[in-house]
Amino acid sequence: MPHPEPPLTETAYAKINLALHVRERRDDGYHTLESLFVFARDGDQLSAVRAKGLTLTVDGPFGPSLGQEDDNLVLRAARALQAATGTDQGAHIHLDKRLPVASGIGGGSADAAATLRLLMRLWRANLPAPALHDLALTLGSDVPACLASRTQLVGGRGETLGEAHVRDLAEAPLLLVNPGVPVSTGPVFAGWDRIDRGALRADSLTALSAARNDLEPPAMLLAPVIAEVLATLRSQPGVTLSRMSGSGATCFALFADTRARDAATQALRAAHPAWWCMESTLR
Ligand code: C5P
Repeated sequence: MPHPEPPLTETAYAKINLALHVRERRDDGYHTLESLFVFARDGDQLSAVRAKGLTLTVDGPFGPSLGQEDDNLVLRAARALQAATGTDQGAHIHLDKRLPVASGIGGGSADAAATLRLLMRLWRANLPAPALHDLALTLGSDVPACLASRTQLVGGRGETLGEAHVRDLAEAPLLLVNPGVPVSTGPVFAGWDRIDRGALRADSLTALSAARNDLEPPAMLLAPVIAEVLATLRSQPGVTLSRMSGSGATCFALFADTRARDAATQALRAAHPAWWCMESTLR
């Protein structure tokens, strides 16, 4: 009897915006931004095997928070790739949802990008990089950057990807904290005060410390607990940079060393057992 094929796997790496400058509201409702995207080594886990049609099963701590299965970004990405490549192949995909939903660390976008990487391998699909990039953008503004999941300077509404060389960032110990309040991206952007506070300089940790996330104030109006998360993170010893990621509510802290990060994680878990904390490292 032939052995069943082992599943192919991909990690949907958590995305972190170390800084996010909103520059302009466009006529189509999207915003032009400048952001330094970095990625954690950890995230959701996806696996896939060949199958007839497209099916998805979900588990993991945040599996129950996902909405209607048909509307899931994983299935939307799979269907879009099927259409773009004209393949009649199918897949059974499994998603282990470890990242909180609607939380500013690209859970859905990272899942969509990881699905594209996974199914390109499973189906041995041959889609040129520019076509894959354009397909990713139809799934969400952050999906193109999540395809490569490496440090990038992102512009436009998310489609302009540039090389980023930032000193002192490689393999930085990282802590992500989410207070358990889902925040939708659209309303946070809509709450931006439309004041352009200037360009992003992101070539060193020092430059990044002087940068901003312009979505922090509107996100805090919707979820005031974010201020408490940031104050708690920033009071921990050994923090080199701490800010909200994306449209929130997840906040991050980078640390000088793993010992400081581990101590901060312990302190936060003891003081706020209901908050979600994930220790990781930048990739
Ligand atoms: O592209 P995505 O579907 O992730 O965006 C969700 C919502 O976030 C958009 O409908 C828009 O309201 C807002 N957004 C924005 N400017 C961006 C990205 C997202 O206004 N650059």
